[in-house]
Amino acid sequence: MKLVCFAAPFAVSVLAIQHEIHNWRAPEEGDVRGPCPMLNTLANHGYLPHNGKEISKAIAIEALNTAINWDVSVVSPLYDFAQPTNPDPNATTINLNDLTTHNILEHDGSLSRQDTFFGPADVFHEETWKETLSYFTTPEIDVRQAARARTARVITSASTNPSFTFPQIGSYFDYGETAAYQLVFGTWNLEASDIKDKISTPLELVRYFFEFERLPFEKGWERPKVPLTFDILVNFVIETQDLTLGQLNGTIP
Ligand code: HEM
Ligand SMILES: *[C@@H]1O[C@H](CO)[C@@H](O)[C@H](O)[C@H]1NC(C)=O
Ligand SMILES: *[C@@H]1O[C@H](CO)[C@@H](O)[C@H](O)[C@H]1NC(C)=O
Ligand SMILES: [Mg+2]
Repeated sequence: MKLVCFAAPFAVSVLAIQHEIHNWRAPEEGDVRGPCPMLNTLANHGYLPHNGKEISKAIAIEALNTAINWDVSVVSPLYDFAQPTNPDPNATTINLNDLTTHNILEHDGSLSRQDTFFGPADVFHEETWKETLSYFTTPEIDVRQAARARTARVITSASTNPSFTFPQIGSYFDYGETAAYQLVFGTWNLEASDIKDKISTPLELVRYFFEFERLPFEKGWERPKVPLTFDILVNFVIETQDLTLGQLNGTIP
């Protein structure tokens, strides 16, 4: 009883602090969002400006570090790729809605968004997401499933969208995005010899993230303890590309 009396106020204050920091609010009138579920999520939580506008490189670096432990070595180049989406040539900030400009970074074959040809490429699209989900056949997504889901979406787009395009930068980002959700929500075992086992990602967390654009704290997710560096991301992307080639030539399931 005594323990409860002392522990309870402490627990309440910790929760209150977490609540304040992770204060999630849906976008409101005048707020902008875009095709990146993570940047939308971080704006919803207030790690990024809630209105989704005028995000400087410094703000992006700080937000991605605080929320998901992404290192400056990866956020800095990502931000630089996004800078030209701002139509003002002299701008030093980005706006989440500008990221939707087709074929700067936004590309066809997304996991949860329609191709620009079919409809808005920025908002979550249930039917598209259902196709992706059909490849996640176990409660833990393994790297092979994630790779197959990515490939399938690209093949579907290529075979149904008459204006399908897949520029090299889009392709590279596409692999990066499939790596990104696994690296943020999965458990790493990057020393594993088979790439299939390098990350194991709870489907429940991935669904919660994509479907609510919210970090899945209430499902037990925590900020990754190991920083995600550029080298880790790039190595995982390269290995996933190789895995994908093996799946396409039938040597890997
Ligand atoms: C400054 C950092 C970032 C920028 C500029 C950025 C930009 C973008 C853009 C433009 C897209 C749309 C591509 C498309 O699907 O057509 C996208 C998609 C995506 N991003 Fe980000 N992103 C950033 C950080 C992150 C982080 C940290 C994650 C971690 C999970 C992430 C996860 C994703 C995922 C999973 C998609 C694919 C969505 C889908 O296919 O439906 N992004 N991002
Ligand atoms: C951008 O900066 C250049 C050089 O300072 C200037 O000449 C130009 O007018 C600016 N453009 C805009 C749209 O502000
Ligand atoms: C299939 O792809 C894998 C991965 O790129 C490669 O190592 C292997 O040599 C390829 N096999 C055939 C039969 O093309
Ligand atoms: Mg897209």
